[in-house]
Amino acid sequence: MFRLTLFPNHLWEQKITFPNLTQFMKKILVSTGGGDCPGLNAVIRGIVKAAKKSGKWEVWGSMEALNGVMNDPPELIKLTSKRTAGIHVKGGTILKTTNRGNPLEYPVLQEDGTWKHVNICDHVVDKIRSLGFDALINIGGDGSQKISMALNELGLPVVGVPKTIDNDLLGTDLTFGFSTAVQIATDSFDKLVTTAESHHRVMIMEVMGRDAGWIALHTAIAGGAEICLLPEIPFDLQKIIKRIEKRYKKGRGFVNIVVAEGAKPKGGEAIGHASGDVGDRHFKLGGVANYLKYKLEEAGCQQQIRTTILGHVQRGGTPVAFDRILATAMGVKAFELIAEGDHGRMVSLKNNIVTSVPLKEAVGGNKFVAQDNSLVHVARSVGISFGD
Ligand code: F6P
Repeated sequence: MFRLTLFPNHLWEQKITFPNLTQFMKKILVSTGGGDCPGLNAVIRGIVKAAKKSGKWEVWGSMEALNGVMNDPPELIKLTSKRTAGIHVKGGTILKTTNRGNPLEYPVLQEDGTWKHVNICDHVVDKIRSLGFDALINIGGDGSQKISMALNELGLPVVGVPKTIDNDLLGTDLTFGFSTAVQIATDSFDKLVTTAESHHRVMIMEVMGRDAGWIALHTAIAGGAEICLLPEIPFDLQKIIKRIEKRYKKGRGFVNIVVAEGAKPKGGEAIGHASGDVGDRHFKLGGVANYLKYKLEEAGCQQQIRTTILGHVQRGGTPVAFDRILATAMGVKAFELIAEGDHGRMVSLKNNIVTSVPLKEAVGGNKFVAQDNSLVHVARSVGISFGD
């Protein structure tokens, strides 16, 4: 009788050892940098799933952006299917993140107690290579993509994945996290409308948007605001007062205003303060809602005014379905670019297709709300004032 013998006994007896397949695997390093954003975990999971399917790549994560690589000992975690299972619904990033330790401007304490910022990108590339990595997927905003480009120019194969709730990155129509932020802001706005109506109040809601007012613009249209103030369109206090008065005269005794944190009066500056850690100080925006309240009261506005600053609530929690899908698709695309050897690029969404653009295109500036943007036209057409 015929017997199928897969491993004949003599082979086992000779104790033939089979090669460890993982030693032939290539290694991708993944990092998340800058402010966090709903959808980061879905990108990580997308990369891991696509890599696993290829059977040729291992995926590792660097903790707290690229600090994980530079720390001694390095803080790296292997991103297995088990470790990333189900994380696409979770906000934040399992790799943690930071705004500190930018290798392009790394703060170094001098002997005289002052701080000097130096470019340590070549060290970062050497370290990544010495740890056995073949490529890097860097998930982050414009600052992180500048780092991606610098590391790529030093010969490390790098692919960027765009991230920011502000949606102000060039080279992509949309960033994941933005839709979630708009949904959170709109839900909050809807709640403020009912209380504004009950009390005949003016409600001012401040949303994020440092240089670009996309969150404010989308929320104003979705929520039905009377006034929307953006960094790109400096406001005139008198115009805002006129709009408020017009609204009360009509007997509709309440007003809802959405203001982006970076909005500024004509001829004035955005409101904020210096903050951050020693050696790494930033100018943090915030407070324009209270500034506006004060200015309206000073100008004699008779209505009761209340302010709400949404802050980091907009960056937290579970991503909406659209962002999970976009983030997953971007993760898969990032892996494919690495596997195909197509480096120096950033994943992007263009005309509803997930594609890629050269990193250079992505870091050339920011995507601002233009006066002739179609949504500005829509907003004006439904009576939203930009205070201009
Ligand atoms: O860039 C995204 C963003 O959320 C901005 O809208 C905001 O100004 C900034 O990050 C806040 O940064 P941090 O988390 O460091 O306070």
